[in-house]
Amino acid sequence: MKTVIYWFSGTGNSFHVARAIQEGLDDVELISVAQALDGDIEPSQRTGLVFPVYAWGPPAIVARFIENLPSDTPDYLFTVVTYGGAPGSTMSITRRMLKRRGLVLNAGFSVKMVENYPPMGGAPEEKKQRKINDAAETEIAQIITLIREDASGNFAQKNLFFSLIGCLAYRFFRMALSRQSGSKFYADDKCSFCGICARVCPVQNVTLLDGKKPTWSNRCEQCFACFHWCPEKAVQYGRKTVDMIRYHHPETLLNDLMIRQE
Ligand SMILES: Cc1cc2nc3c(=O)[nH]c(=O)nc-3n(C[C@H](O)[C@H](O)[C@H](O)COP(=O)(O)O)c2cc1C
Repeated sequence: MKTVIYWFSGTGNSFHVARAIQEGLDDVELISVAQALDGDIEPSQRTGLVFPVYAWGPPAIVARFIENLPSDTPDYLFTVVTYGGAPGSTMSITRRMLKRRGLVLNAGFSVKMVENYPPMGGAPEEKKQRKINDAAETEIAQIITLIREDASGNFAQKNLFFSLIGCLAYRFFRMALSRQSGSKFYADDKCSFCGICARVCPVQNVTLLDGKKPTWSNRCEQCFACFHWCPEKAVQYGRKTVDMIRYHHPETLLNDLMIRQE
């Protein structure tokens, strides 16, 4: 039976998980959430949704995607969220969003991966990244086994404190994040005008005109792909990011995330 996995990913953690599941099952198609939102979303018998946790909940683009999912209930619907510290209430919020579309979430999973949000300190140094990513492989392998068995239940990491504050905080942060949108991003003098920031942006929010530095519009999804994938570390977010570590999952390539090649 065919499985379609919809993914959203800024620094490749979630994409890595989606691809690992693809490799671990038979007949899996990977579709980017951003691309799927541009067209019609076809119903599929087995459906997966893989995305990062933003402010203890699903990213806004994932919420919009869920609102556009066909309400034909798949035989098996699962979600895998990747997170840096705590998934909070992501699974319960996602389940409620799906329920409003008439869909039942059969299984929810989470994988602890490298943190990528600069205002929370961003990514740790490489040695720690390796440790986190190695541990993630064990979690991913367990998830693949459970998906193969069509396992049902909430297998995501649980923390009562973050789950309780998560629901309230999610609403607040989602509003705050969308208000800021792309306004805090800029390219400093290290910019080589290569255009990677514009091409890796899943929602075409970065524009690069000939010979000019990139500019950010107000459709930003806060995935930080532009920030982390800039080869010159020239993309900044506010005033404190110049010396921050840039990160992407070691097995995800820039090309994997460049969903708009034109
Ligand atoms: C805007 C934003 C908000 C985030 N909020 C959380 C959070 O609430 N809890 C958490 O554990 N990680 C949080 N993170 C970290 C990411 O969920 C984590 O690094 C994830 O694996 C990134 O996946 P990606 O590489 O597929 O984008 C946040 C990251 C971003 C960019």
